[in-house]
Amino acid sequence: MTPRPDKTFYLTTPIYYVNDAPHIGHAYTTVAGDVLTRWHRQKGEPVWFLTGTDEHGQKVLRSAQAHGVTPQEWVDRLVETSWKPNWRALNIANDDFIRTTEVRHTERVQRFLQSLKDAGHIYKGKYEGCYCVGCEEFKLSGDLIGRGEERLCPVHGTPVEMVNEVNWFFRLSNFVESILKHYRENPDSLQPESARNEVISFLESDVTDLSISRSTFDWGITVPWDTDQVFYVWFDALLNYATAVGLGDDPTSEGGKKFAQTWPPDVHLVGKDILRFHAVIWPGMLLAAGLPLPRKVFAHGWLLVGGEKMSKSKLTGIAPSEITDHFGVDAFRYYFLRAIPFGSDGSFSWEDMHARYTSELANDFGNLASRLWAMIEKYCGGVLPVVAHDPGLQAALHEAVTEADSAICALDFQSGIMAVMEFCKRVNGYVTEEEPWILAKSLSNKVHLEAVLYNTAEALRALAVLFNSVMPATCEILWQSLGANESIGALADQKIEDVHKWGQLPAGSRVTKSAVLFPRLDVIA
Ligand code: MSP
Repeated sequence: MTPRPDKTFYLTTPIYYVNDAPHIGHAYTTVAGDVLTRWHRQKGEPVWFLTGTDEHGQKVLRSAQAHGVTPQEWVDRLVETSWKPNWRALNIANDDFIRTTEVRHTERVQRFLQSLKDAGHIYKGKYEGCYCVGCEEFKLSGDLIGRGEERLCPVHGTPVEMVNEVNWFFRLSNFVESILKHYRENPDSLQPESARNEVISFLESDVTDLSISRSTFDWGITVPWDTDQVFYVWFDALLNYATAVGLGDDPTSEGGKKFAQTWPPDVHLVGKDILRFHAVIWPGMLLAAGLPLPRKVFAHGWLLVGGEKMSKSKLTGIAPSEITDHFGVDAFRYYFLRAIPFGSDGSFSWEDMHARYTSELANDFGNLASRLWAMIEKYCGGVLPVVAHDPGLQAALHEAVTEADSAICALDFQSGIMAVMEFCKRVNGYVTEEEPWILAKSLSNKVHLEAVLYNTAEALRALAVLFNSVMPATCEILWQSLGANESIGALADQKIEDVHKWGQLPAGSRVTKSAVLFPRLDVIA
């Protein structure tokens, strides 16, 4: 994606329902967003990374009731004791965290929707149909499964509820042609291709207007012109992407300036479960308001358990800590993006994670660093020898950076990580072929030996920069161990475009042995 001069790279995750604590499905999207934004920061772009929580609606209300507390108490408790701490634990560097119960959100939502009403895009009507509280979605009867009288939501497998009420409607159908035109002219704006095809065929079928308010409960944002109703939770939720950056504020105010700098977002990262909301309803709302559409919506696949989407309601949700307690945070961040093509479904398995941890992280990456520390200590007294070059390694690095950059910017995390891992393997091969432990046996090989050690250290310097977005804590340890902080500067300040420049670590740097980057699992367990 081409950067926009003077604009911020603005990425969002879905805002998650706080009916319960996060599981690894939520963490998957959030980590992906964190990796992509860290990468763009290292490309030297200004970045804004937003995540948050979706706190209104019946799903959250019912959880609060089931726990005998008010919905506000419930969401406050869960956000502070579970959602935010989970993201901190996973080293998520979001710039903002929006909660839909915040005044900065509710006021802007009301203002925005009043303006749609004033412009004639909203009308009063009668809604009669099915609703799944688990999805917080109005369902068409063709969407449902089940035998006889019992009509079930295909996602949750639970009975849908009948809704029969007078409420407010948004004239979504008026915007269908413009949305279709947008996707046909900008195929990049909706990815992967399977998601785009699904949305296009949905848009080509019969898209009806959307009920956007509810009158039977009050846990939501009040409709300003009809205070007996609250907005439909999705209409409130989608707007978070804009309210968080100052939607509708005076252009000279702080919010107005932020909006001008960020809008439209570069990437909305979502799971495929919520594709239609983002690819049909959301652009309809923006077109009605005359706002530019997001540059890209990317719908990734599901983490599956037993062939079905992992979910708390089906009791298949795994808490991130269950995995990080065993494998560590960086291995968690690495594993899902490495193992599953972004856009496809994938099953989580302890065996596969164990195997990749051992072969890729511990053996290929961690062991390379351990070998270097030991050899620099033994053969050079812990001090980096004179700057050397190796055209083969340099060319391999150049290729890895180019491939990783184009793959990661296209949200193909798997290929990006594999390109860097290939380089890591190449460096291991270099050490094995050069046999520094044999060279060390004769003083006449001193220059050669030192060159091999310097080149290995330089390669590790590059690996720390290239893996930093995926495994920031580990790469920081590696960076410190190379003395690079003192000689080159902070790891986060290293630019992707400069990684390939060989010879950055100065001779004489002190290399210190650190704790093993990826300890053996039988040691952790
Ligand atoms: N609140 C809405 C989103 C509103 S955005 C304006 C919502 N919340 S959710 O808590 O259900 O989170 C859904 C998102 O969490 C998915 O789109 C996906 O990003 C992530 N995942 C939840 N379960 C997942 C899997 N089993 N696998 C992969 N991602 C999953 O929908």
